[in-house]
Parts: sequence; C-alpha cells; structure tokens
Amino acid sequence: MKCIGIAVTDPQDWTARALYEAVTRAGGSPFVFRLHDVATRMLGETELVAGDVNLKSLDAVIVRDVGGSGSGSGGAEDMSYRFDVLCNLEDQGVEIVNPPLAIQTAANKHLSSYLFKKRGLPTPDTILTADFGTAVDVIKEWGRAVIKPIFGFKGLDIHCVKDDNNSRTLLKKQLDRRGVVYMQQYIPNPGRDIRVFVVDHQVSGAIYRYAPPGSWINNLSQGGEPGCCPLTPEIEELACGAAGAIGAVYAGVDLIEGEEGLTILEVNGTPSGRGIFEACKVDVTVAIVRYVLGRGNG
Ligand SMILES: Nc1ncnc2c1ncn2[C@@H]1O[C@H](COP(=O)(O)OP(=O)(O)O)[C@@H](O)[C@H]1O
Ligand SMILES: [Mg+2]
Repeated sequence: MKCIGIAVTDPQDWTARALYEAVTRAGGSPFVFRLHDVATRMLGETELVAGDVNLKSLDAVIVRDVGGSGSGSGGAEDMSYRFDVLCNLEDQGVEIVNPPLAIQTAANKHLSSYLFKKRGLPTPDTILTADFGTAVDVIKEWGRAVIKPIFGFKGLDIHCVKDDNNSRTLLKKQLDRRGVVYMQQYIPNPGRDIRVFVVDHQVSGAIYRYAPPGSWINNLSQGGEPGCCPLTPEIEELACGAAGAIGAVYAGVDLIEGEEGLTILEVNGTPSGRGIFEACKVDVTVAIVRYVLGRGNG
C-alpha cells in the first residue's frame, strides 16, 4: 500500500480532509503532518521526521498548505524552514506535489507575471518600481491601477488606485512599507472572475467568483460568492498554459474577463477545493490523488 504524506497547516480544513479521504478511498494510506512540526536531524545521514515517521519512507507528499508567516508561526525563519523541508525531501527522492519550486513561483506575483509574459500568455500590463514619480506616471497613463503585495494572497492588501490625492497617499505608504510596488492595469470586468482548477494538464472544473455588493475583489475569502462556470476551450487552454508556466502539477488559476477577452491574473499553488465542491460538486482532490498514486513507484 502506498503511503502518501499530506502536508497541512490545519488538519480540519476542508481540502486537507478531502485529500485524506481521497487517498483512503483510492486504496492508499494517508499520513497527515504539519511542516511546522517536522524536525531535521543532521547527525549522520540527514533525517526529516514528523512524530516517529521518517518522511523519506513516504511514497509522495501532497502539499495542501505551507502556512503563512503570520500568527501561529515564527515568521520568516519558520516559513523558510518549511520550504527547506519540502526541498530537502524532494532531494531525498520523495515526489512533492506541488513541487516546492512551483509553490514558491506561484506565490511570487512578480515572477509569475514575468513567466506569463515570457510565454506570450495574456496577462494585464504590470509594472514594478521603487520610484514614486514613476508609479504616479503609470497611474496617470492607465487611469486605474491595482496595487498588490508581491507575496499576497486571499485578496488581502489589494488596492485600486487612480490619479487623486488619496491614491498618492496610499501609494506613498505602500512604498514606505514595501520598498517596491507591484502595479497592474485594472481590467474592467463583469463583477466576477474565474477560478479554474487544473490537475496534470487537464481542467477539473471552474467557478465564477462574484464580488460582494460594492466590492471589486472576487476572492471567496473576501465575501465572493461561487457559481458554476461552464468550460470553454479558451478557458482550458489559458488555465493549462498558466499552470505550465509556473510548473504546477495542480493549480487554481485566476482568470478575468476583460474587454479584450480572458486574461490571467495569477496561479495558486495550494488552492482550496472547497468553493468548487460546494458550487458544482467537483472534488478536485480526487484528481490530485489519482495523479499522485498513478506515478511510477510514488
Ligand atoms: N488587474 C486586475 N483588474 C481587475 N481586478 C483585479 C486585478 N487584479 C486582481 N483583481 C481582483 O482582485 C482579486 C485578487 O487578485 P489576485 O491577483 O488573484 O491576488 P490574491 O493572491 O490576493 O488572490 C482577483 O481575484 C480579482 O477579483
Ligand atoms: Mg487570487
């Protein structure tokens, strides 16, 4: 029986539980652990252990969640350690899904935008600068811009700015705090975006995410409402292209319907499967587990 590790932050989270059940139903043996709890023993040969399990004995690890650097963790060092654990395990021959490099690339909006542009994939025009004057000129030229943290998530600390005093104040604050600002052309849209789930070059399903009244941010964690989204060849092609650019085996790809067609906002390397299950009864964890159990000896 194949033993599949499931790396979680919260074992009770919907996706963590669904992965556990999917591994069990597929005849595998799940081992749930928190990356935070992994100890590294560099005595003779390096061993990575969670409880009394040497993680090298696992056939593969599915990463549900690496966890943030916020409350309940020790900040940047803990975060960096959790990634190192994944990289070291991969180096010891354990297949990690998603690969740690893909998780890191997806988490970095600057690098992601670079890779989308490099592959000629449609994505909004984006500028990073540390210079206030340049940022103001860009806003003037575009009319409206979206400012995002490079390592942001869940629609947090995202701002839509235009050429006025409030926006300048906000921009100054962001530059003081971050040193550099990531700005993207605002894409007028029908009040919703599309979250597409890709597993192993195939689309499992997609949902619309409708922003709550008075908001332009569609994330479910910001009050967005999910609805089933019919698949089209364009959605499938863009979502698979975006996941491929990031190197993700499975991904939640955010697309938005602009005036000139669909465009890619970002790829999530550790997406929740809850919204699409509740809206359309598609359980993406089944496809992830099928992929992992179907790989070579892993
Ligand atoms: N350029 C944009 N134009 C219009 N809306 C945007 C743009 N960028 C982001 N949004 C809105 O903000 C949400 C969050 O942006 P996203 O880039 O996916 O960051 P996060 O990692 O926080 O989810 C998107 O789902 C979308 O609703
Ligand atoms: Mg997003």
